[in-house]
Amino acid sequence: MSDLTQHKAGNLDILRKIPVRKTPFKAQAPDKFESTCFSKQPKIPVWFDCDTGVDDAIALLLLRHLTCFDLIGVSTVAGNVELEKTTHNTLCVLELTGDDVPVYRGASQPLIRDQIMAPEVHGKNGLGDVELPQPSKQLEAKNAWDALYDAALAHPGELVLIAVGPMTNIGLALAKYKNLPQLLKRIVIMGGAAKGGNTTPSAEFNILVDPEAADMLFNCGVPVAMCGLDMTLKAYLTPEELDELGNLGSPQASFARDCLQNALRYSLSLGFGGISLHDPAAILYAADESIFEQYPAWVRVETKGAITYGKTVTDLYSDKKMPERNHMVVTDVDREAFKARLFNLMKRYNG
Ligand code: BDR
Ligand code: CA
Repeated sequence: MSDLTQHKAGNLDILRKIPVRKTPFKAQAPDKFESTCFSKQPKIPVWFDCDTGVDDAIALLLLRHLTCFDLIGVSTVAGNVELEKTTHNTLCVLELTGDDVPVYRGASQPLIRDQIMAPEVHGKNGLGDVELPQPSKQLEAKNAWDALYDAALAHPGELVLIAVGPMTNIGLALAKYKNLPQLLKRIVIMGGAAKGGNTTPSAEFNILVDPEAADMLFNCGVPVAMCGLDMTLKAYLTPEELDELGNLGSPQASFARDCLQNALRYSLSLGFGGISLHDPAAILYAADESIFEQYPAWVRVETKGAITYGKTVTDLYSDKKMPERNHMVVTDVDREAFKARLFNLMKRYNG
């Protein structure tokens, strides 16, 4: 083989490792959704950490009906809006779902950086300026990171942590409880992107807000499934589909449509075809991966770059020299199947 041929062959080897999907994937037939997500098998203990937020709110609406999960606790963090608002919103939305899961208040600011928020997307109150009735539901006294650790202790090796806001609470828990990684089964996040960003050209919002905390999470030894923008931007509803959702007839469905209107306008103004449901997509992935495309990868977070901080650096498109590739980067979703699952769950509020 000539040098040139060898060189080309080498390049091809590298190219072959790049995850290119050749054929559109579909939910397996028959779709496993009903059997997996509503199964009577032992439930998966789940902790949900959020910065409620309009899409966090929809994620909470879905969680209520995913009976494969045993929702142990919900913790709140500052992110889309201030902590007092994300906490209040979480209590309000859980009152609307009828879920009596305990709620714990978490961190009011990132580990070391100034707070960044997104009222232009989520409205001033974080729920698209839709006002829900005052909740009768009360906050728990314990803080989020202590409560998360106690839950992990109570379910050693079983607890799945789903985080859909900035990862400050988890960073604090990892710093305080050195054995927490051994107690967690896996972490699923909405955050990051193998390519690009939505708040800077390099960074997705949840990671940008607290990159140091996010990096602790990727570096703690627990496998992380990164439901980033690569996939969640494809998990969208068009304006017409959002209307259809709102017309399902329940107060929960009307709330979902109404609270997403401001974010929808924002998204359309950027040239997108609809509203991406980032956090609900992460929930549906955690429940059943069969409609998602994903690849094992090494992931860390850039924390030093002046203009690139918050970037999730992965070896997904590189030549994969990293010794450990124990995370998953979720890159795509079958949007029709995603929509069907979303509607399936929301219809369950019709009684
Ligand atoms: C993420 O940022 C927040 O604004 C959303 O709630 C979602 O978790 C999308 O980048
Ligand atoms: Ca969120």
